[in-house]
Amino acid sequence: MIKESLVNALSDQVNTEYYSAYLYLSMSAYADRAGFKGVAHWLFVQAQEEIAHGTHLYRHILDRGAAPSFGDIKTPQSSFASIKDLFDKILAHERQVTERIHRIASLAQSEQDHATYAFISWYINEQVEEEAQAEELAARAARIGDNPGLLYNLDSALAARTFTDPFAGEGA
Ligand SMILES: [Fe+2]
Ligand SMILES: [Fe+2]
Repeated sequence: MIKESLVNALSDQVNTEYYSAYLYLSMSAYADRAGFKGVAHWLFVQAQEEIAHGTHLYRHILDRGAAPSFGDIKTPQSSFASIKDLFDKILAHERQVTERIHRIASLAQSEQDHATYAFISWYINEQVEEEAQAEELAARAARIGDNPGLLYNLDSALAARTFTDPFAGEGA
């Protein structure tokens, strides 16, 4: 039986993942309208991944025999200064998400909820990748500055991303 404290923490994380999707959609719209279609596409795929995370967490709560709770999704920022600003904000956001995941892991440990700990471990690893990816892109954007040729190269590279459901085959 899953404890209420963990149901609340996991439900809150569902909300955070959907907020992440909303934030990345907002960033995607900014990039699209600024003419960076590759960056916009990359962010759109990023948003799809966050929705997959949120849905996966939601499913886990139901699978444990509990009722997920729902709340308002925060309004994301909608104006940004530059492409570099986007990647800096992605990095800052993902670092916050990592802290939240670690708090859930610590709570699962203190409650001796091994099933939740095993479940959330996937997210601990995922956040290592999320931060590494955001750090790389933020550093790359910093090096590029306003160089139009290099910005174009980055935009083209990011256009190649494809969405793969991280939980394909697990059933929903
Ligand atoms: Fe996520
Ligand atoms: Fe993320």
